[in-house]
Amino acid sequence: MAERLDARFLFHLALLSLLLGSANGNGLKFGFYKTSCPDAEAIVRKTVSSYFSRDPTVSAPLLRLHFHDCFVRGCDGSVLLNSTETNLAEKEAMPNQSLDGFYVIDAAKAALEKACPETVSCADIVALVARDAVSLATGQGNSLYQVHTGRRDGFVSKASEAVANIPSAFSDFDELKAEFASKGLSVKDLAVLSGAHAIGNSHCFSFGKRLNNYKGKGDIDPTLDPNYAMELRNKCSPGINTVVEMVPGSSTSFDTKYYDLVAKRKGLFRSDEALLQDKRTRDYVYSRLHAPESSFFYDFGKSMMKMGKVGVLTGNAGEIRRNCALVNH
Ligand code: HEM
Ligand SMILES: *[C@@H]1O[C@H](CO)[C@@H](O)[C@H](O)[C@H]1NC(C)=O
Ligand SMILES: *[C@@H]1O[C@H](CO)[C@@H](O)[C@H](O)[C@H]1NC(C)=O
Repeated sequence: MAERLDARFLFHLALLSLLLGSANGNGLKFGFYKTSCPDAEAIVRKTVSSYFSRDPTVSAPLLRLHFHDCFVRGCDGSVLLNSTETNLAEKEAMPNQSLDGFYVIDAAKAALEKACPETVSCADIVALVARDAVSLATGQGNSLYQVHTGRRDGFVSKASEAVANIPSAFSDFDELKAEFASKGLSVKDLAVLSGAHAIGNSHCFSFGKRLNNYKGKGDIDPTLDPNYAMELRNKCSPGINTVVEMVPGSSTSFDTKYYDLVAKRKGLFRSDEALLQDKRTRDYVYSRLHAPESSFFYDFGKSMMKMGKVGVLTGNAGEIRRNCALVNH
């Protein structure tokens, strides 16, 4: 009896939320702030544009922040929280994740708090900022995809969880596949989202082992093009803190050149090269060489929308932080 009541109750609840148009499986929807903060998305876009026009290298760290947010406790703004006296936060995870771009999130948040106090979550800001940042980097002026909104902010951020959940640059295909699957993301999403490495830079410490002593014998990673390895060794000769472009000469332009490099075994990370290990991801890499760029953009938008839903807090869960680096009190 109680069970039947429960089932009926749940059925009506589901029907109700469908009628209210708020349910797409996890409580996010397009235009969540349409009435509560109508200019929210425009304010974010304006903020990102103003930073981008001064410095186009800002796009890459902003795109990466969304990935790091979503892979640790879901897209709940946990990546933005500062450490406290008793807690080491995700952003300080060792090995240092070299995350950046927090000042853009803070600027967007400040503008939003002015327009509509305590309304727009930091987790949504991260998602919108990432979309606008990568869209601007295409140079085409329009948004690559739409962002579902309605995320709420979490209370917890732990460095140890970042270490456990962010894939390592030395992962092979099976490890990456498993890590993506644990977030509900497919092998195709892996192939597509890795294309984010079309923009940005990396520190030599993130891949240096591939150039020297890969197996502890002074050897080069055999999956890396040997001439490219020598080039990278040269670039990295000042030291492991040197920064190199992910795609030389094109690190602020979001396009498919990343796949050209991977196909030539010039991906910077073992995890980039790993796309050649499996037939499905390998086919995706090679097919990029002929497919129009727009087909990659379409895939990327779809996979980003999927990543943006990982483990989100909605409804009454979490909170709307007033300051993205701090939980409310
Ligand atoms: C597939 C597993 C992935 C691994 C192992 C990985 C690893 C890394 C590493 C090691 C760096 C360089 C960090 C540094 O030394 O400064 C990096 C940078 C970057 N990653 Fe990933 N990543 C992955 C997936 C993604 C995804 C899914 C996205 C976004 C959708 C992304 C976006 C970026 C961007 C844009 C940068 C450049 C950041 C900058 O220039 O500041 N990555 N990634
Ligand atoms: C968070 O930490 C950063 C870096 O240490 C600092 O600049 C910023 O002021 C902190 N934010 C808050 C709100 O305490
Ligand atoms: C990473 O470490 C460097 C110095 O080692 C520091 O300047 C930077 O703020 C750290 N990044 C984060 C996100 O904590």
